[in-house]
Amino acid sequence: MPGFRRTALAGLAATMLLAVGGTPAAGDRPAYRDPALPVPDRVDDLMARMSLDDKLGQMVQIERKAADPQAVADHRIGSVLSGGGSAPEPNTAEAWADMYDDYQRAALATPLGIPVIYGVDAVHGHNNVHGATIFPHNIGLGAAGNPELVRKIGAATAKEVAATGIDWTFAPCVCVARDERWGRTYEAFGEKPENASAMTTAVTGIQGEKLGADPTSILATAKHYVGDGGTTGGDDQGNTEISEEELRATHLPPFREAIARGVGSVMISYSSWNGEKLHASRYLVNDVLKGELGFSGLVVSDYDAIDKIDGQEDFTPDEVRAAVNAGIDMIMMSDRHGKFLDYLRAEVESGRVPMERIDDANRRILTKKFELGLFERPFAQRDLLPGVGSAEHRELARQAVRESQVLLRNDGVLPLAKDGGKIFVAGKNADDIGNQSGGWTISWQGSSGDITEGTTILEGIRATAAGSEVTYDRHGNGIDGSYRAAIAVVGETPYAEYEGDRPDGLELDEEDRATIAKLRESGVPVVVVTVSGRPLDIAGEVDGWNALLAAWLPGSEGQGVADVLFGDHNPSGKLPATWMRSFDQLPINDGDGQEPLFPYGFGLSYRSGPAASESHTNEKDWPRQDTHGLGTA
Ligand code: GLC
Repeated sequence: MPGFRRTALAGLAATMLLAVGGTPAAGDRPAYRDPALPVPDRVDDLMARMSLDDKLGQMVQIERKAADPQAVADHRIGSVLSGGGSAPEPNTAEAWADMYDDYQRAALATPLGIPVIYGVDAVHGHNNVHGATIFPHNIGLGAAGNPELVRKIGAATAKEVAATGIDWTFAPCVCVARDERWGRTYEAFGEKPENASAMTTAVTGIQGEKLGADPTSILATAKHYVGDGGTTGGDDQGNTEISEEELRATHLPPFREAIARGVGSVMISYSSWNGEKLHASRYLVNDVLKGELGFSGLVVSDYDAIDKIDGQEDFTPDEVRAAVNAGIDMIMMSDRHGKFLDYLRAEVESGRVPMERIDDANRRILTKKFELGLFERPFAQRDLLPGVGSAEHRELARQAVRESQVLLRNDGVLPLAKDGGKIFVAGKNADDIGNQSGGWTISWQGSSGDITEGTTILEGIRATAAGSEVTYDRHGNGIDGSYRAAIAVVGETPYAEYEGDRPDGLELDEEDRATIAKLRESGVPVVVVTVSGRPLDIAGEVDGWNALLAAWLPGSEGQGVADVLFGDHNPSGKLPATWMRSFDQLPINDGDGQEPLFPYGFGLSYRSGPAASESHTNEKDWPRQDTHGLGTA
């Protein structure tokens, strides 16, 4: 194996260290294998036994497609990830558990038997896995404004992830989305730091009150540090050109809150701050995150992010050194782990990367592995497999969908009666579970179509209005005046990251506009439901709609949208992002002096009697501020 020197000398050195450095074994078991010992002692003992190559390998997180279990073991690689959609074949929970266990068995067969830690983006459920529960994306949860609900979603997600063996989710994103042109707006809980800060209850849900105390506890990640949602023009991976005062006031608070909740890892942002790449910022990573904020967990890079420090493809020794010396402990990479290890070894042997930095990174990584219980419980928790996509989790997801709906306009047509007469449903997003789930679902970008199990919005409408005749035509063909109402479910199709950047506009597409026009020509009251990752540019059309419901990206349980349309849930959601009056206003945020179409915090509800709806924009309890650390709203 190129550059990887595993020699008898290393084995001899380990033995000598055992004599002088390692803690005496209790019986024939080395101290680091004794769960009764304090974690710091176990870390000390293990590190005293590790060679330089053992330590360097722990700092690599490799994509599964680039290294099979034996390669991971041979290079002593400490972590594996599945990038978005990187699934075993078949893509079943059982096959994930088998894949995970294969990596773990190979790792445990190495001399020191250090288990791998495996990470995925379970950002709205265990969303890579077919049949898993898909929860609303964060912008919808921000609209719901319920931290306790978010904690429960984190816990349910962790159970489904742990069932497949996976130990680590790269969630929650605690970004603060300041410009809706950004393709990751839906991954944010809202436009203000308090939206994300309130929802760091996700950390408590994912990890539990104490990391590893429960078998379903997995490692959470606060991401992306720091300022990813504040780039100029909403340019994903772009440049956040703001003062340090604004960076600290707007983008830092959710990380403080996540750290206070014990988040075990932080992921660094691809973006730059005033021209300096975050991945090379010793000030923001080492001095502020680790020093000032006291973060003691592990800092992981973003995917192949060190390649981009110098703006050129591939990574160089300088970039490896810059990232590690900035304070990044684990480098996430698609491939080229051998080259990385060679570069890092040379940097250490030359003294350009101090051994203390390598030891600090290893201490942080190994501490999380011990705390998670990976040495004692290294394999998938297969008894949890029945919980993947369970009715209980789907009911929780449905409740989250209900609470995330924001009613923006209603002339009294809503709530619809469940019985009598005919209802017409149209729109490309009415009967498409892929579209209603959005990006990061089964594949990285997500996709239209019947991509996983669940209930479409149309299926929910049909189930609720069982006493009515419900007709569906995607384009509205067949509508006439005999229908009592028409529902147009429109909006965006799936995207993720920079693929979702919209520097040129956020209007409804031509198909949606034609569909709505056809419905309106019939004279039937039209209810528009937007399925989107962000506010859209609709000011020019909204006056012709009888009602408007923002559904965001509800995920697998479309029934929750029908629950609101037919009044089984009184809409309670409120805008976590200011809704533009014009695209030209962007960025538009609460308090910036611009006149929006709908303000931050706006949301209507149903009221009995003639005033069908009234705004409760300024309700004091939204978003509900969780009492820090208690995990209850
Ligand atoms: C992506 C994203 C990050 C994700 C990581 C692993 O590029 O920026 O949010 O966790 O890579 O998939």
